[in-house]
Amino acid sequence: MKIMWAITGAGHLLKESIEVMEELSQKHTITIILSNAGLEVIQKYGYLNKLQEIKEKNNENNIITEEEEKYSYPLSGKITHEKYDYIIVSPTTANTTAKIVHGIADTLVTNVVAQSGKGQIPLIVVPVDQKEGIITTTIPPYIKKDLCKRCPFCKAKVICPQKAINPPYIDSTKCIGCMKCHDCCIYDALITDEKIELYIRKIDAENSRKLEKIENIKTVFNPKDIMEKII
Ligand SMILES: Cc1cc2nc3c(=O)[nH]c(=O)nc-3n(C[C@H](O)[C@H](O)[C@H](O)COP(=O)(O)O)c2cc1C
Repeated sequence: MKIMWAITGAGHLLKESIEVMEELSQKHTITIILSNAGLEVIQKYGYLNKLQEIKEKNNENNIITEEEEKYSYPLSGKITHEKYDYIIVSPTTANTTAKIVHGIADTLVTNVVAQSGKGQIPLIVVPVDQKEGIITTTIPPYIKKDLCKRCPFCKAKVICPQKAINPPYIDSTKCIGCMKCHDCCIYDALITDEKIELYIRKIDAENSRKLEKIENIKTVFNPKDIMEKII
C-alpha cells in the first residue's frame, strides 16, 4: 500500500506515532510530510534520524517538508492521481485540528487534508488534544539555571555537535535532540527527559471531537489504533 503520513508540530504522541509509522514501513511505502513546526519539533525531540532511517527502507519512500512546497502546495494537488491508499495525520496539533474543522487549507498538511476529501482518499487523523483537562507530556532538553554552575569547561557544551549549548541556555533552534548531552552535567542542571502537566483547553478538545463529523475522516485517539483502520 502507498501511505502518506503527515506530522505536525506536536511533541505529544510523537514518539508513539513514529513507532507505528516504523511498523507500517516494514510492509508499505511511506511518504512523510512535515509541517514547518513538525520539522522543528521533531528536531527538538531527536527523531529526525529515525525518520531518515524509515525513508531509506524503500526507494519509493520520501520526506517532504513544508518549506520545499511553498506556497501553492503542488504536492497536495498530486495526491489524487498518485493514488495514495491512506493519508494519516499523526500527531495533529490543536492548531491543525482547528484549521481542519473550519475547512482552512493554508499549510502543506491542511492542503493535503482538503485534497484528500476531494479525491476521496481515506484520511486518519490523531488529534493530540482529546479531552479537556490535565495531560502529562515530555518536554525537550533544557538547563535549570539555578543548578547550572556555568563551568568554564562544560562537558555538555563540548560534546554538543550542534553547538547549541551555551550554559545556562540551550538554543532550541540549533538543538536536534540527539541526547549526547544526557548525563553530562554532574550538577544535574541539564534535564533531558522531564515530564510536565499541561491543561487541554475546552475549545481544543471540542475541535478534536468535531473531526469525526467531517466526511472522509476517521479519528483515532491512540496512534496504535491506526493499524486496525488500515485494511
Ligand atoms: C517542543 C514543542 C512541542 C509542542 N507540542 C505541542 C503539542 O503537543 N500539541 C500542540 O497542539 N502544539 C504543540 N506545540 C506548538 C505547535 O508546534 C504550534 O502551535 C505550531 O504553530 C503548530 O503548527 P502546525 O499545526 O502547522 O504543525 C509544540 C511546540 C514546541 C516548540
